[in-house]
Amino acid sequence: MKILVIGGTGKTGRELIKQGLEAGYRITALVRNPKKVKIDHPNLRVVQGDVLRPESFGKAFQGQDAVLSALGHKRFIVPTSILSAGTRNVIVEMEKQGIKRLICITSLGIGDSRFRMGLYYTLFAIPFILFFYFRDKAKQEDLIQESELDWTIVRPGQLTNGRRKGKYRTGKNLGSYILTLWISRADVAHFMLKQIEDPAYLHQTPGIIY
Ligand SMILES: NC(=O)c1ccc[n+]([C@@H]2O[C@H](COP(=O)([O-])OP(=O)(O)OC[C@H]3O[C@@H](n4cnc5c(N)ncnc54)[C@H](OP(=O)(O)O)[C@@H]3O)[C@@H](O)[C@H]2O)c1
Repeated sequence: MKILVIGGTGKTGRELIKQGLEAGYRITALVRNPKKVKIDHPNLRVVQGDVLRPESFGKAFQGQDAVLSALGHKRFIVPTSILSAGTRNVIVEMEKQGIKRLICITSLGIGDSRFRMGLYYTLFAIPFILFFYFRDKAKQEDLIQESELDWTIVRPGQLTNGRRKGKYRTGKNLGSYILTLWISRADVAHFMLKQIEDPAYLHQTPGIIY
């Protein structure tokens, strides 16, 4: 199968590419800076593009079976629409190209998982640091859920750079109102790749934590 990875130069996106290639997928990575992609593999195609500039997509989406997005950024404290605007462009392009499957990371703490990132996030990080970022993530989720796509929104707890364990909890009502629970980026990527051919979480917003 052919998959398009968005955010492939990021910490989770790199894992999506690495593990996706190991699993035998043919991968296209849509990245702003191709020099940041350090993997060289016959099944990896790198296309320069920016989700905020759909005219830069070229043929990146053509013929893909699924799109996996690990889009993110660090411009937390100013009003931002990068995640929602970028995702809107991705949805439009997928619809244009007839691609149905979208698997996208947002976060615990959004939508009906509100408060499930623990007290530190609920009382401090979200209101004082991540307010605009989380507001944009909520909008990103709305756009995905309102689309006609076969979507799965993956909501991780606090991300770590730990190794892939392959053992984690996923589903509804995960996370804690008190503690911040963790999951490695490698395991988030593992779970996202599993969703490509598994409809169990179709049109759902599973959390993922250890
Ligand atoms: N940190 C946490 O504890 C935590 C918890 C829950 C959820 N999350 C979410 O999980 C996701 C992945 O996190 P991460 O740490 O792996 O992210 P990351 O390392 O910051 O990677 C973000 C990726 O998005 C790309 N990107 C940004 N703007 C773009 C644009 N306009 N066009 C194309 N690509 C663009 C970046 O490209 P460049 O390399 O060009 O910048 C990078 O590849 C994020 O949405 C994050 O908010 C994080």
